[in-house]
Parts: sequence; structure tokens; C-alpha cells
Amino acid sequence: TPSAEDIRQIVAPLTALEGPLLPMLHAIQAEWGHVPQAAVPVLADLLNLGRAEVLGVISFYHDFRDHPAGRQVLKICRAEACQAMGGTGVAAETLARLGVDWHGTTPDGAVTVEPVYCLGLCACGPAAMLDGRLLGRVDADRLLAETGA
Ligand code: FES
Repeated sequence: TPSAEDIRQIVAPLTALEGPLLPMLHAIQAEWGHVPQAAVPVLADLLNLGRAEVLGVISFYHDFRDHPAGRQVLKICRAEACQAMGGTGVAAETLARLGVDWHGTTPDGAVTVEPVYCLGLCACGPAAMLDGRLLGRVDADRLLAETGA
């Protein structure tokens, strides 16, 4: 886990930007894979914001995670075309079988499941992406097999 000082070093060069909070959060996540708790007071301090404001922004943008992700990240498309192809059911079954909710990570740390809104694979829905690899016409069996869960 990074210290407050580590975090300060990463974000300090961004202070001069207009609207620096989002670039800072992206920089932190790029460095450590998530936005650790320790970042909240550092950012609040630097930007003269309340901690609640910083936390609000982190939770509003689902791209930011407050825990490290699992070893694999599975994104399941929740946009319209995939929903029309049964994506909602595939997602629900996959989440249930993995025992997680959206943005959740399996207890063994193997898989984090996240929603995504269109992967450009609408013709082959329901679509998903596992660690950057596109998967078309998926069902829950296939997704679980791909993740090895
Ligand atoms: Fe799912 Fe486009 S709607 S890939």
C-alpha cells in the first residue's frame, strides 16, 4: 500500500491543471491499480475539498475502484443490443454463480466483474471481455469456463 507521501508525489505535478481531481484519480489508479483509502485525505488536502466530496467523486465514476481488482477482470456488456440478446440473464447468472455483485471480486481474488456499456461487438451479443480479450455470444457456462472459476 502506498503512503500518503507516495501518493502526493504522483499527484503533485497535476495540481496546476484545471479540474485536477479526475486526472489525479486516474494517475493514482494507473500507478496502483486502485484508489487506496490513503489517497482521500491527500487529495482533499491538496485541492481544498472535503473528504466526502472526494469519496463522492470516486464512487460516482465506476472506473475507479477502491480495492485492488482480482487477478482477472471480466466485463460484461449491459448495453441495449446485448440486453436484447439475453445479456441480462447471462450477467445475472454469472454474478450469482461467482457469488459477487457488480464491481465485486470473488473471495479467492480470482475475478472481478464489472459492467461495460457496449464493446462494439453488438452483432455477436451477449458480449463480454476478459482481461482485454473480447468474447462474443457468451453464456454463463462459457464465462465461468474462461475465468477458470
Ligand atoms: Fe453489447 Fe454493443 S451492446 S457490445
